[in-house]
Amino acid sequence: MISLRRLTKRYGSFTAVDAIDLEVPRGELFGFLGPNGAGKTTTLRMIAGILKPSGGAISIAGVDLAADPIGAKMKLGFIPDRPFIYEKLTGSEFLRFVAGLYDQEGTEVEHRARELLALFDLEEWRDELVESYSHGMRQKLIISSAFVHRPEVIVVDEPMVGLDPKAARILKDLFREYTHRGHTIMMSTHTLEVAETLCDRVAIIAKGTIRACGTMAELRDSADAGTQGLEQIFLKLTGENAARELVDVLDA
Ligand SMILES: Nc1ncnc2c1ncn2[C@@H]1O[C@H](COP(=O)(O)OP(=O)(O)OP(=O)(O)O)[C@@H](O)[C@H]1O
Ligand SMILES: [Mg+2]
Repeated sequence: MISLRRLTKRYGSFTAVDAIDLEVPRGELFGFLGPNGAGKTTTLRMIAGILKPSGGAISIAGVDLAADPIGAKMKLGFIPDRPFIYEKLTGSEFLRFVAGLYDQEGTEVEHRARELLALFDLEEWRDELVESYSHGMRQKLIISSAFVHRPEVIVVDEPMVGLDPKAARILKDLFREYTHRGHTIMMSTHTLEVAETLCDRVAIIAKGTIRACGTMAELRDSADAGTQGLEQIFLKLTGENAARELVDVLDA
């Protein structure tokens, strides 16, 4: 459903994403992990078609993004890490607006929008302007907007940030159910517990290259980590050594 071939992004002489190959099949909930600055957002923004790759190819549900950008984007919902919402729209209007971008309107969309707002406890706020929403409420509205047109593929950059425990639970259940129904989700996260309990497979990226890809069990094997915790595996695969650096700083 998502296919990346030698995907590359350079900023001047700096290579943020370095010839990544990745296949995410239909129905998979795929996790994208890596340290700050690893290239996760850059990759996801290229998949969403809002950042132009320096090289390589992306296909979404069999449609090549460069050859048919509109066709590929019609199959996709994207939840950015720093979302933009028009403040002067109400929650309902925003969802209607997003559905309209995907040529969808009418009673079915209205019904779906209401259901999503109800799911995230936003029903009472549906006719209030977004400018009056809290951070978490905006996040829930943005998440709803990625589902309102029922895309085949959803790409999400750090969806859990700012959500309260109940909303985080709902989001996990929604992601799980959506992929069970044959849709595909790729999400970046810093929460290792989320990756472990929610994702079918994960990729670990560091300095623009993929260091490991597979189920958490496979990653444990590849890191030769035995019974080590997820955190240790992650630090090992990304070449980070937090404890040593901490000691260096404190001793300096
Ligand atoms: N517009 C830009 N110009 C120059 N360098 C950039 C630009 N955008 C990102 N980078 C660099 O590309 C690298 C990857 O950034 P990216 O935002 O993809 O990381 P990330 O994995 O999403 O990190 P985080 O976990 O902090 O969100 C970083 O070194 C960043 O400084
Ligand atoms: Mg990021």
